[in-house]
Amino acid sequence: MQSIQRQEIQVTVNKEAYRVPVPNRRTLLDLLRQDLSLTGTKKVCDMGHCGACTVLLDGVPVLSCLTLAVTCEGAQITTVEGLAGPDGTLSPLQQAFIDCDGFQCGFCTPGQLVSATALLNDNPAPSREEITAYMAGNLCRCGAYSGIADAIEQAAEQGKEA
Ligand code: FES
Ligand code: FES
Repeated sequence: MQSIQRQEIQVTVNKEAYRVPVPNRRTLLDLLRQDLSLTGTKKVCDMGHCGACTVLLDGVPVLSCLTLAVTCEGAQITTVEGLAGPDGTLSPLQQAFIDCDGFQCGFCTPGQLVSATALLNDNPAPSREEITAYMAGNLCRCGAYSGIADAIEQAAEQGKEA
């Protein structure tokens, strides 16, 4: 039987440095959930279709179920656990999701929050159409799309006032 090839990688997740040996075929999603016990990032389709596993890789949103962990050597990764402040204060976007009913079961919410964070980093004042287009890869089986877009608009408004 062929032995599993492992490689040690160094990654920074939510500002914390980790050095972990990973099998060459381990996905970033499994690294986060199984090796680092960061289970906020959700595994739904595991095929790149739903967006629930979205994390920021060096600031860019990626599908962690389609990203091999060994390709993340030296990377800075942000997961949903890294969006709140160090004292646990929710980010304005997280609070807006609560205020605007931007979720129902909440299973898609980590991916929605990470994608919306990337959107507002790129475009602090998106139009409704730009929000819809940017968030198209994040599916919500509860159909909370309107609340999600409202939440992103609210956080954008707050960003203008800050
Ligand atoms: Fe990665 Fe669905 S779990 S896109
Ligand atoms: Fe249930 Fe989106 S809130 S899948």
